[in-house]
Amino acid sequence: MPKLLINGGRSLQGQVTVQGAKNSALPLLAATVLCKGTSYIHNCPKLSDVYASINILKYLGCKCTFVNNSVSVDTSTLVCRRIPDRLMLKMRSSVIFLGAILGRCGNAVISSPGGCELGPRPIDLHISALRRMGVIVKEKHGFIEFDAPNGLMGAEINLSFASVGATENIILAAVTASGTTVIHNAAKEPEICDLADFLNSCGARVNGVGSDTITIYGVNKLKCTSHTVISDRIVAATYMAATAITGGEIVLNDAIASHLTAVNSVFEEAGCIVKCIGKKIHFKAPKRLSSVPKIRTTIHPGFPTDAGPLILAMLTLSCGTSIIIENIFENRFRYVDELKRLGANIKVEGRVAVVEGVRSLSSASCKCTDLRGGAALVIAGLAANGTTIIDDIYHIKRGYEKIDYNLSLLGADVKEI
Ligand code: UD1
Repeated sequence: MPKLLINGGRSLQGQVTVQGAKNSALPLLAATVLCKGTSYIHNCPKLSDVYASINILKYLGCKCTFVNNSVSVDTSTLVCRRIPDRLMLKMRSSVIFLGAILGRCGNAVISSPGGCELGPRPIDLHISALRRMGVIVKEKHGFIEFDAPNGLMGAEINLSFASVGATENIILAAVTASGTTVIHNAAKEPEICDLADFLNSCGARVNGVGSDTITIYGVNKLKCTSHTVISDRIVAATYMAATAITGGEIVLNDAIASHLTAVNSVFEEAGCIVKCIGKKIHFKAPKRLSSVPKIRTTIHPGFPTDAGPLILAMLTLSCGTSIIIENIFENRFRYVDELKRLGANIKVEGRVAVVEGVRSLSSASCKCTDLRGGAALVIAGLAANGTTIIDDIYHIKRGYEKIDYNLSLLGADVKEI
């Protein structure tokens, strides 16, 4: 099994280009199913989750190529409407294919997505919204069958929580449904806007993304298009947190500052200097990081849950006490025990983590428990004295393209072994 080996203690300096956003690329690849013909998705990061999506597309009968961060998907040969267990289980986000397959074929079968490393991740909101759109849902032998015998119909949908995945699935199902769909309390994440931009350039009519209410006027069919994935705000936050904890100074290229407002204000509270100029972010760490009294994860444009582990890792070396309250996932702090192996002083009580900053971290062997928890270990390892060995890095590969190479470019001593 590959591991990451980090000789800590070097401050990050230089420039790095932020990869395309995983959380945009996955729904965009699913959305190509709605367009008969060949679509092109550029700036697609090379990640195991992206390969998992391509494998689903191929299983459905599509022809895909992935060259130089560009994926072409020819869906004219799509024959299958079922995603088997082995492909569903590779990635929880495969549930995002549901809306697209339903929109294209009128029926779909997926296996129950089940739990994941962040706790149970039900799809009840997806299912109840689809029911309102005329879909009959039956659960059998671990599979869920979705069928719209009279076609998908536009509906008024009130989400009890602004779920990212449910909002995406509803949009995908609604773009070619008959009539108008209105989503109240919709998710406002930038990746939803990216999905709508793609669909609208295919001829869809999706209005209001980025606000609480999204209106989708159904159209007969979508044409194919080329689309460039937006840059990954969580990866940008990762490089900034790594720079902050190592006392460095970097420039991020291809970053979208407006997607990072809440994260950047936390960096500033910790004493970092963040200057956004066009698509560049100039980032400088202070001599010693300050603690941040309270951070609450919430829906966009608030502080994102995915950035919680990165900031928590950074704050282990701050001066004082910081508190992070996790409001989205109930089991997000599993990586904390691994961080403690490096000498971090953190207490977790339910959804609250209290970080007492320490003067230094020391190297250890540790294991990734999930994607962003793995990134947190990398951040801490970069600042720890000695050689940190991180195991189970397949979690990290789900979301970071060439993290070892990019950190090495910034002067870190990181190797995959
Ligand atoms: C997406 C992101 C993930 C991010 C999360 C929150 C992708 C591929 N993943 O995940 O990185 O951490 O948004 O910003 O884009 N919930 C229900 N019932 C549902 C749906 C969700 O109870 O039907 C709950 C979940 O269990 C969770 C919360 O709502 O506690 C947030 O889930 P959701 O916004 O749907 O996140 P994902 O789309 O899974």
